[in-house]
Amino acid sequence: MKEIFENVFFKEGRIYTKNLTPGISVYGEKLVVEDGIEYREWNPFRSKLGGAIKKGLSEMPLKRGSDVLYLGASTGTTVSHVSDIVEKGSVYGVEISQKMMQKLLELAELRENIIPILADARKPHEYEEIGKVDVIYQDVAQPDQDRILMINANMFLKKGGYAMLCIKSQSIDVTKKPKDVFEEVKRNLSSLFEVVQSINLEPYDKEHEFVLLRKVK
Ligand SMILES: C[S@@+](CC[C@H](N)C(=O)[O-])C[C@H]1O[C@@H](n2cnc3c(N)ncnc32)[C@H](O)[C@@H]1O
Repeated sequence: MKEIFENVFFKEGRIYTKNLTPGISVYGEKLVVEDGIEYREWNPFRSKLGGAIKKGLSEMPLKRGSDVLYLGASTGTTVSHVSDIVEKGSVYGVEISQKMMQKLLELAELRENIIPILADARKPHEYEEIGKVDVIYQDVAQPDQDRILMINANMFLKKGGYAMLCIKSQSIDVTKKPKDVFEEVKRNLSSLFEVVQSINLEPYDKEHEFVLLRKVK
């Protein structure tokens, strides 16, 4: 295994995180033991962050000890890998759907660093007690996802902190070309963020762009 980012590993075309809860697979992913350490295979077709790494993510802001606000946590597929990476950091997983939250709660029972929050990411005051974070990860697939990121970043993201944003053009405007939608979202965020990298997620996800942003104010 070659460590390509903190706690992210690569071997023979596949990516892995070191399993924080050995023996337990979260979404059916393979568990691999090497030199006495157990790793979880990271499926880029199931996780956009996995896809972004496979497509050449240049910088990884998630590190051991990072505190992360994750908007659109769903059942915790990607959250689980983020949890592996940050170890003693915290992953605040905000999810609006009660149904998805059920699974996330089960995952959080096994992983102490996941704090599930049943809330609407449009109402950050409902979870204001979390305080400042190093990274915001957002995958909500909503038409106003730029505004959702801005209000959360203004409230929680440290200056110089990073946002990792998954943009789904179909959720924003089906009549426009995906490229134009992606550019518009980035323009709307430019008062607060600089774009570090934009990654087209094909073939892992169609009409999705993964954007790494740095908060400049
Ligand atoms: C594409 S899925 C996220 C998948 C997840 N990021 C992963 O990789 O495992 C989008 C999720 O965002 C949630 N969501 C949508 N709008 C939201 C909102 N306003 N606040 C919080 N969660 C929201 C949906 O319920 C859904 O679970």
